[in-house]
Amino acid sequence: MGWVEYWDDKPTIYVNDRHRVSHYRCVADGLIGYVGAGRPVVLDYGCGEALNADDVARHTRHLYLCDAAASVRAELARRFAGVGNITVIAPEDLATWSAGPIDLIVANSVVQYLDRASLDDSLATWQRLLSPDGRILLADIIPPTVGPLTDATALLRFGMREGFLIGALVGLVRTFFSDYRKIRASLGLQQLEDHEMLGILERHGLTARRVTPNLGHNQARMAFIATHGGRADA
Ligand SMILES: C[S@@+](CC[C@H](N)C(=O)[O-])C[C@H]1O[C@@H](n2cnc3c(N)ncnc32)[C@H](O)[C@@H]1O
Repeated sequence: MGWVEYWDDKPTIYVNDRHRVSHYRCVADGLIGYVGAGRPVVLDYGCGEALNADDVARHTRHLYLCDAAASVRAELARRFAGVGNITVIAPEDLATWSAGPIDLIVANSVVQYLDRASLDDSLATWQRLLSPDGRILLADIIPPTVGPLTDATALLRFGMREGFLIGALVGLVRTFFSDYRKIRASLGLQQLEDHEMLGILERHGLTARRVTPNLGHNQARMAFIATHGGRADA
């Protein structure tokens, strides 16, 4: 099994429904902050369930929700069928697009599931799709120093804030025995230092910098903005 098959199998990575709802609310609020006021065209790559995509879409001219897992796309298409400026697409659809239509490409909590070659391919695709003034936001990048213990502490803090602390404690025990842990051990996660992430983006000819806040609750993980190289305001 690879990561895409894992996500396609509708895994329960949230400790309970309150965690799932709080997670997507937190990611959407953070994303709206990066979308800003100019109503850009946005591509959310590896969007997952994107429960609050309709709220995000209100700040965009158009929001493309893209995920490799067919079951995730089917659920997104059902949930947002009534929202005129949301379109659900598969990663392979992007190959048929002409250059430059997207103002903001976000990939939150996705890079860790790509190997280096897939990350390079994705970056080449995103760069082609990016409008001249566009931005790529890569978020929830895990540095090698952030392991399961730091993630667990961040989850407990999030649980305390959002009212699912007991659920978080139970969930951590469950995760210890879960498929996720076994698959993480066998497939690995791509973890990058900030200078490594910046180096990869720069090798693609992008101008990049680390930004805060990270999307989501875990501020031990990192976020980066990249733009076409040579932009003075990057
Ligand atoms: C941890 S979830 C993140 C979901 C969402 N972005 C969030 O912040 O909650 C990872 C998502 O990335 C998707 N994914 C994994 N590999 C992918 C790939 N190569 N291309 C597109 N999506 C991918 C999975 O199907 C899954 O929905």
